[in-house]
Amino acid sequence: MAEILRNGNVYHLRNEKVSYVLMEMPGGTLAHLYFGARLEGLNAANLLRRANVPADGSFSVQECALDRLPQEYPSFGLGDMRDGALEVEGPDGSWAVDLRMEKAEILEEKPALEGLPATRGEGSAALRVTLRDGHTGLAVILDYAVYDDCPTVTRSVRLLNGGGAPLKVTRALSLCLDLPDDGWELITLPGAWGRERVVCRRPLVAGHQGVSSRRGASSAQASPFMALVRPETAQEAGEAIGATLVYSGSFLADAEVSQFGATRLMMGIGDDDFSWQLLPGEAFQAPEAALVYSDGGIGGMSRGFHALLENHLLPRRWMHRARPVLLNSWEAAYFDFDEEKLLDIAKAAADAGVELFVMDDGWFGHRDDDTTSLGDWTVDRRKLPHGLEGLGERVRALGIQFGLWMEPEMVSPDSDLYRAHPDWCLHIPGREGIRARHQLVLDMGRREVQDFVVDAVSQTLKASGAAYLKWDMNRNFTNIGSAALPADRQRETGHRYMLGLYAVLKRLTKAFPEVLIEGCASGGARFDAGMLYYVPQFWCSDDTDALCRVRIQCGTTMLFPPSTMGCHVSAVPNHQTGRVTPMETRFAVALGGSFGYELDPRRLDDAERAAMRGQVEFANQTQQLRLYGQLYWLQSPFAENDAAWMSVSPDKREAIFTLVRAMARINAVPPLVRLAGLDAKRRYRVIETGEVFGGDELMRVGLCCPLANGDAASVVYTLKAEA
Ligand code: DGJ
Repeated sequence: MAEILRNGNVYHLRNEKVSYVLMEMPGGTLAHLYFGARLEGLNAANLLRRANVPADGSFSVQECALDRLPQEYPSFGLGDMRDGALEVEGPDGSWAVDLRMEKAEILEEKPALEGLPATRGEGSAALRVTLRDGHTGLAVILDYAVYDDCPTVTRSVRLLNGGGAPLKVTRALSLCLDLPDDGWELITLPGAWGRERVVCRRPLVAGHQGVSSRRGASSAQASPFMALVRPETAQEAGEAIGATLVYSGSFLADAEVSQFGATRLMMGIGDDDFSWQLLPGEAFQAPEAALVYSDGGIGGMSRGFHALLENHLLPRRWMHRARPVLLNSWEAAYFDFDEEKLLDIAKAAADAGVELFVMDDGWFGHRDDDTTSLGDWTVDRRKLPHGLEGLGERVRALGIQFGLWMEPEMVSPDSDLYRAHPDWCLHIPGREGIRARHQLVLDMGRREVQDFVVDAVSQTLKASGAAYLKWDMNRNFTNIGSAALPADRQRETGHRYMLGLYAVLKRLTKAFPEVLIEGCASGGARFDAGMLYYVPQFWCSDDTDALCRVRIQCGTTMLFPPSTMGCHVSAVPNHQTGRVTPMETRFAVALGGSFGYELDPRRLDDAERAAMRGQVEFANQTQQLRLYGQLYWLQSPFAENDAAWMSVSPDKREAIFTLVRAMARINAVPPLVRLAGLDAKRRYRVIETGEVFGGDELMRVGLCCPLANGDAASVVYTLKAEA
């Protein structure tokens, strides 16, 4: 059970797995004492001695520099020489902030965040601490929550200008975690288009290290995620602390090792392109950050994040719910289609058991390539003479659902929308707009733009009767500037964009609760907890090559649960890498997430089409297990030629295991893979071979997996507990 204990000036948040302890110092500074495995209690003297606080606990910021004190929400400029979480310019032009505790309240329930996505607080205990800077009157409200069912603490920050003069916030991070030592390694998930979320582990060194995005999106290049693990931490053993941000825009994540060997982990809105004016009485809400602690290795941390996101963040309606097997037209047709062709493809898909047909890019304006028409969301009658209504009806007549693609945040310079409203895109007056994929970014911070997008998407969904929407976003910000803001507020543009996007998604998901929205950003370039609050799944990557995908899915599931990853079987030779892999391996890999196809089923031969039918059936039968089971990475594709993973049902009675070999090896014995997460005392039948093994044996000796010859070979085994 989550609980908050108060012992004098010490506040202890805990559940069965984790404890988080903070303390009000004499004088009101808020110190951080502990985050880690659950404690029964904590004698603060120990840690305070290390921070040079006298044994009698007396403490004064004048006498005892803050540079050594672990703090909850520090700022730079008044004794602490490390980077701070907060910088606010006062009327005198100075930017230091001296926060002292005003009050702490144990709340009845975890409050929602105004305008921003955040975890929901069912089964949580919540603490609110209010700090104040006497000099400016600024109040800083720190909200914390600890949950019954995950090894997690979440926190968020709200600023309130309680003084009489305008303030300018130039940095308001969401997370600061001061750890007493530097015996850690850092894991981040950098990447690129088509190579999202590469697992990168390196020793922590003195000074700063981190990741950030200034792209206006969380990005493929840098995920808002950091983990600290002990040098000896392995996949299923050892300590790990992970942090992520419930936010989809530019961010920074930094780990600073101080001169005293302490580690400060910080995360929040990137401050390079940010500032916010706060008039007297106004408030600013910073995004939520989530921390997970595991003493069961990196896998334990990942499963902690999965539990938090599955149980508290994903849209309620889609929690633990079956997802339709879909076929997307992109790699089947690109821009080259008409109604007849789409219906042919949809029919072949329906015959193979597919449940949802998705029409991708190219159905509107006069979009025969990517140079035109974004923003003109009227159907192209040259291609679809019966309109969206007609196509939707005809697809449904095949007995399957219909879905489609939009890229609502963008505008093509060659569009009626742009000609009518050239100032609706992000731009700097007098400077040439930088185009990427021939398009510009709409200024989502503007109410009229939000209304336009809500209207366009609503009309499209209504006309087509779509059950699914692929919400794409294919370029990053440049020319950051908003015609709706005065010169001294231009740095608010990026965050106002995110608030606008979230407001739009909130309106649309409320109006169309049954439409399954899949996020996409040139693949997985905005795959983050902020988007997942509104859209339960995200197109994982534009690279659909099975071997590449194993890596991408391994990196992605370090943080995100399998259900959130859109994973499709595509054609060979693969359109991105040119590689030919067996269909069964493409299938085995796509089973790693929300399953579908990205190919033209008419081009499959009879055997492949028959295989497809069986695949759809198998994907559906195993769906709960694959998407919502406990995920274990047994062998990492970043480290080994044979990658292996498995999902285990919560009652440990069922499991599904996958092994993918990248390169064939001559004269090799079949791999022996030690399984994980099973009940050691149970006996399990491997359904595909009929053999029975003890759970202990499978976990200690391993499962021998003979593979077919050739590159990219794979096996999938399902395990069921005997009686
Ligand atoms: C990028 C996406 O990632 C692709 O799947 C496809 O939808 C294209 N955009 C369409 O333009």
